[in-house]
Amino acid sequence: RPGAQGWVPDSRSLKALADAAPECRGCELYADATQVVFSAGPKSAGLMLVGEQPGDQEDQRGRPFVGPAGRLLAEALTAASIETKSVYLTNAVKHFRFERRGKARIHKTPDVGHITACRPWLEAELQAVRPAVVVCLGATAGRAVLGRPVRVGAERGKLMPDPAELAAKGVLLTTHPSALLRLRDAADRDPAFAQLVADLEVARDAAK
Ligand code: URA
Ligand code: SF4
Repeated sequence: RPGAQGWVPDSRSLKALADAAPECRGCELYADATQVVFSAGPKSAGLMLVGEQPGDQEDQRGRPFVGPAGRLLAEALTAASIETKSVYLTNAVKHFRFERRGKARIHKTPDVGHITACRPWLEAELQAVRPAVVVCLGATAGRAVLGRPVRVGAERGKLMPDPAELAAKGVLLTTHPSALLRLRDAADRDPAFAQLVADLEVARDAAK
């Protein structure tokens, strides 16, 4: 895996980055995915939300967080009084990694090698947006942004310094919305949703 650096342009215009991303061959994930899923949201965003990788629907539509996890995230943002359109949404890894089971494409968690290979895109996005706060949704995003293994349960909900020194107010780790979707029982899901909303409120207030 050569990593994405050879495909990232010097420009820090989001359009230039998004236009270059489809050419990336920084790791093997481009080969089986439908298309690259770059990002959504304005350069002026104070909050940058980082997910894991595109899911099945994102892969087909070419936009981040348009599937079930994205709908739950939008609900959580609304509950935290954050306008979805005002945040910058992206992923640690920009191509969908999956396993085929018959006709189904089953999500497969990216390896550290994929996170490392794709990291130059995230770095360029951080330099372009320079958000006040980066919210990492889950352990893959946390690993990509903080550059070390993270434990969501132990580290969630508090502001930590950005090792890249690009997010002025810091980095906050929280649960990935997909983890909530896996909780079948409302007795588990409701408090987990409330925690996600509370974490987003911490990020919102810090970004003010
Ligand atoms: N999950 C993610 O982490 N990112 C997406 O874009 C969609 C689902
Ligand atoms: Fe490039 Fe990232 Fe896609 Fe790998 S996942 S090909 S590094 S954009």
